[in-house]
Amino acid sequence: MLGLKRTKRGCQTKMIARVLLLHAVLVGQVYGNWDIDARIVQGSNADLGEALQFLKEYDAEASDMCFRVSTAQWKYATNMTEANKRKMMEEQALKAKFDKLTWRKAITFDWTRIPDVEVKRQLRMLTTNTRASLTDDKFNELHQLISEMKEIYAHVRVCPYAFNGEKPMFCDLELSDVQKIMASSRSHFELLHIWKEWHDKVGTPMKNRFIRYIQLTNQAARINGFLDAGEEMRFAYEDRDFDNDLAISLQKIQPLYKELLAYVRRKLIDTYGPKVVRPEGSLPAHILGNIWAQDWSNIPDIVLPYANFRNFDVTGEMLKQGFTPLQMFQMAEEFFTSLGLKPMPPEFWRHSMLEKPNGRRVQCTASAWDFCNRVDFRIKQCTEVDMKNLITVHHEMAHIQYYMYYADLPHLYRDGANPGFHEGVANAVILSVFNPVHFRRVGLFENNTDLYELNINFLMLMALRKVAYAPFAYIIDQWRYELSESGTTKMNSLWWDLRQTNQGIVPPVPRTDYHLDAASKRHIPADVPYTKYYVALLLEFQIHEAMCRAARFEGPLHECDVYRSREAGRVLIDILRNGKSRHWRDVIRALTRGETDKISPDSMLRYFDPLLRWLKSQNRRERVIGWTTFKEDKALFEPLVLSGARRSVRSIFIVFVFAITVTYNSLE
Ligand SMILES: *[C@@H]1O[C@H](CO)[C@@H](O)[C@H](O)[C@H]1NC(C)=O
Ligand SMILES: *[C@@H]1O[C@H](CO)[C@@H](O)[C@H](O)[C@H]1NC(C)=O
Ligand SMILES: *[C@@H]1O[C@H](CO)[C@@H](O)[C@H](O)[C@H]1NC(C)=O
Ligand SMILES: [Zn+2]
Repeated sequence: MLGLKRTKRGCQTKMIARVLLLHAVLVGQVYGNWDIDARIVQGSNADLGEALQFLKEYDAEASDMCFRVSTAQWKYATNMTEANKRKMMEEQALKAKFDKLTWRKAITFDWTRIPDVEVKRQLRMLTTNTRASLTDDKFNELHQLISEMKEIYAHVRVCPYAFNGEKPMFCDLELSDVQKIMASSRSHFELLHIWKEWHDKVGTPMKNRFIRYIQLTNQAARINGFLDAGEEMRFAYEDRDFDNDLAISLQKIQPLYKELLAYVRRKLIDTYGPKVVRPEGSLPAHILGNIWAQDWSNIPDIVLPYANFRNFDVTGEMLKQGFTPLQMFQMAEEFFTSLGLKPMPPEFWRHSMLEKPNGRRVQCTASAWDFCNRVDFRIKQCTEVDMKNLITVHHEMAHIQYYMYYADLPHLYRDGANPGFHEGVANAVILSVFNPVHFRRVGLFENNTDLYELNINFLMLMALRKVAYAPFAYIIDQWRYELSESGTTKMNSLWWDLRQTNQGIVPPVPRTDYHLDAASKRHIPADVPYTKYYVALLLEFQIHEAMCRAARFEGPLHECDVYRSREAGRVLIDILRNGKSRHWRDVIRALTRGETDKISPDSMLRYFDPLLRWLKSQNRRERVIGWTTFKEDKALFEPLVLSGARRSVRSIFIVFVFAITVTYNSLE
């Protein structure tokens, strides 16, 4: 958990003075969206003194509010009793009221006419990316919808595969079981069954709620001054070129992605045969080891290049050396102090939850907490002794470092430079840690790290996680943008069209617009933006490379470990201490010593360059690097001309959706 998302709460919109400035004053952020600035809802107060006073009060109250809410959330997350839940919800409701008042006050200012850049930016932050502009009724409806969709998602249970044709006794598999089966089963029929069950049972029941959700988020965005909710989501990056630059970055990654896909396809055909995997075509979504086909690293048995060099793992050595969870945290702390970063404060050790406690229910997802009072930072993790947890400990502690370094900034700037930075920083650190060279230095890996086979296997493992993920991370919000812009009539065919075009992934069975397959990913029902993960992916390598350069590392990037380099530490501190106070493009310019001020895939491509060369030689005999779009594949999801019985089912459905739409519109 990254601090607290501002809880968004509604308020009457009638009294909004909506001033559209035709001649916007072009002062403010260097990368501001001038045309949009003029559209954002604003009042008439351009008094700098009053604005400063308002922001000062906001800062104190918001920090205080954040402390109270985090405290209540922490109590519940580490001790899940009804009383703690009630207390948490009370605090959250107070916070929502506060946000609503803040928004109402903020929109009385005309910040386009306030010349102070900081004031302008802070007021802009307080009046955008909020749904506080909706009426109370609609605001509550929106939050009700989101919580219902999350409930549906959390309670989906699917039936196991009937191996011998026997009907299963219980249909009680939850997402974690689904993930385990997708990762471990090599039965095409079982994978197909589980994939279909999950997608059918998650998306379809929430579809009408989701359509209404898109309408309401669009309404909120329009009142705020945006064309639609997608434009408002993109606006969070404060950069006119952002959209375009991201599209270009994905294009640059595609040659590597296509080589990887062609190689993986060959291996999948060897395992499952050409009836399951179309030669030269897209990959079916169910056999890549992951229910969303976003991470392919769970099928090393099928794709790992050198079978005698198993997946890289130091768990055995950790167990042999008798590691405890506390020692894992101390090891991570030592990693950061070796870079010249701060040790964890006494409050951290006193209050964190480092192991799963006995005798009470807790939420076990690992998370890093900022209590917004400048002293209290904690990690909650049900730590087990294995390599995966050791990596997670370093990752969460990187978030804590971020919190500590920006603790003295105003509340609005205590955040990553843009929404991708927190994850980008944490994962950049991991590139040094999850690394054979590093584990050798800390005494967890004895073997030679120079072996070619070990390195290619390692890079392949990383590519199956990171390169395979790139187009997936990119398209999720592209899909949402498109829905908010063009409507919700062909949601599912659009989803698969994006996947087929960018990812070379097709559904294993025919899908229609009756389904809502994107909802199989929690972030869709849970209303969580996704572009930040794509940004973080590129940033991670950019930051890693900058730190390696500062450490004067020469050699392949995947072997770089910045452990004990104060110079690398200074590069990191420079990002952290700025929080969100500077525009992220300035932060990147400083990071790359002026080479670029953009999020760029170049570092990632350099990291994988040895693998790319290996893949090219492996793929010499492949006729198609990437994938051909076969019409049989497109037919799996394109809206088709229906005939006979299916047509009547379909038209009934369309009428149904239409009726809903009209009813909802009449509520406006
Ligand atoms: C858990 O919360 C309850 C209140 O609901 C409290 O009485 C109890 O002491 C708490 N347990 C711990 C270990 O903090
Ligand atoms: C299916 O049947 C075979 C032989 O009849 C048996 O060996 C296997 O364990 C059965 N599988 C399950 C999942 O019941
Ligand atoms: C080190 O090499 C030996 C022999 O090649 C192998 O059995 C062992 O698994 C390797 N250790 C690790 C941690 O990879
Ligand atoms: Zn994280």
